[in-house]
Amino acid sequence: MTSRLLAPVRLGALELPNRVVMAPLTRCRADNPDFAPTESMARYYAQRASAGLIVSEGTIVSPQARGYPFTPGIWSEAQVVGWRRVTDAVHEAGGRIVCQLWHCGRLSLPEFHDGELPVAPSAVNPEWKMFTPEGMRTTVTPHALRREEIAAVVADFGRAAHNAVLAGFDGVEIHSSNGYLFHQFFSPCANRRDDEYGGSHENRARFFFEVLDTVAAEWSPSRIGFRLNPMMNRFHGIAVDEETLPMFEHVVRRANGYGLAFLHLTEPYQPGQLDGATGAIADVAGHFRGIATMPIISNGGFDRASAEAALASGSCDAVAFGRACISNPDLVERFRVNAPLNEWDASTFYQGGDLGFIDYPALEA
Ligand SMILES: Cc1cc2nc3c(=O)[nH]c(=O)nc-3n(C[C@H](O)[C@H](O)[C@H](O)COP(=O)(O)O)c2cc1C
Repeated sequence: MTSRLLAPVRLGALELPNRVVMAPLTRCRADNPDFAPTESMARYYAQRASAGLIVSEGTIVSPQARGYPFTPGIWSEAQVVGWRRVTDAVHEAGGRIVCQLWHCGRLSLPEFHDGELPVAPSAVNPEWKMFTPEGMRTTVTPHALRREEIAAVVADFGRAAHNAVLAGFDGVEIHSSNGYLFHQFFSPCANRRDDEYGGSHENRARFFFEVLDTVAAEWSPSRIGFRLNPMMNRFHGIAVDEETLPMFEHVVRRANGYGLAFLHLTEPYQPGQLDGATGAIADVAGHFRGIATMPIISNGGFDRASAEAALASGSCDAVAFGRACISNPDLVERFRVNAPLNEWDASTFYQGGDLGFIDYPALEA
C-alpha cells in the first residue's frame, strides 16, 4: 500500500517531503539567564529534521509572555543568535522549521514576572496549577489588559515575527490554542470585556487578527500558520459549550482571506475530554475541512495507522506528532520501514538537561 503520510505536500510556500509534522513541544531546556536556545536544542531539532516540517516549541514573544521555567524567547539578540544556531542545524540536516509564537497570558505566575501579575483579557483566575522548579503553584487573578497594553502585546508579536526572519526560520505559527492568551480572548469564560475586544465573535477575534496583520507585515502569509484547539475542555481553565464552535468557525472563515500556509488543529484526544460538554464535536479536522480554504495539519493522539486513515479520509493534508517525536528522532524512517517506536518518558519532558532530550536512539544504520 502506498503511504500518504510519506508523500510530499505543499503547505503555502512550505514544500514538505512528507506529511509527518513535529508538533510544538515545550521542553524547558533554555536554561540560561537569556532564555536563549542552546547547543543541545540545536542538536535535538537537527536529530528530528527528517520530519516534513518542525514546529518549534512555544517561543515567548516577551518577558510578559512567560508562564514556565526555561522556555526560550525571541525578543532579544542573544535569542536570535541561539535560534539561528538551531535553524542552521535543521537546514544543514535537510529540514524545515517554523517558530511557534507564544504568549501564556493568565496561565502564568507572579514569580515569572518579578512579583507582578500575569496579564489576560479579564481579571478571571483560571484556577489552574502551573509547574515551577520548586513544585506546582496555583494561578492568581490576572491583570486585565488595558487597550494600550493590548497594542503593546500586538507590537511584541511584530518584533518576534521580525526576529524569526532574522533567526532564519522558514515561517511562523501563531500559538492561538491550548488556553493561552489568544484562546483566552476567544473564550467568554476568560474574556468578560465590554469594549471592542469582548462580546461578539468579531470583537473576541480582534486581538488575534491584529496580531495576524502585524505578523503578515513581516512574513508572507504563505509562511504563516496558526494553531487552534477548539475542543479543549476542562483544561487550562477553558470550557466547551454551544458558543464555542461558532466562535472558532468565525475565526477560520475570516482567516481564509489571508492565504495562510496552514491551520493546525488539535483533536480531542484525552479520555473523557468532552464528557458532559454541550456543543462538542469529535472530528475537528473533518469539521473545519468544510470551512477552511488553507491546508490543514491535524494533531492529537495519532499513530501511523490513524494518521494514514485521516489523510485517506481527506480531512487533513498532514499530521503532527507530539510525544512520538520526543522519543523517536527518526520517526519518519521508523514509519517507512515499519519499525517499532521508542516509548516516551513523561518524567523527562520538562525537567531540563540532556537526559530524555537528545539521547533517544535512532534505528541502527
Ligand atoms: C511535553 C509537551 C510539551 C508541549 N508543548 C506544546 C507547545 O509548546 N505548544 C503547543 O501548541 N502544544 C504543546 N504541546 C501539545 C502538543 O503539541 C500536542 O498537541 C499533544 O502532545 C498531542 O499530540 P500527540 O498525541 O501526538 O502527543 C505539548 C505537549 C507535550 C506532551
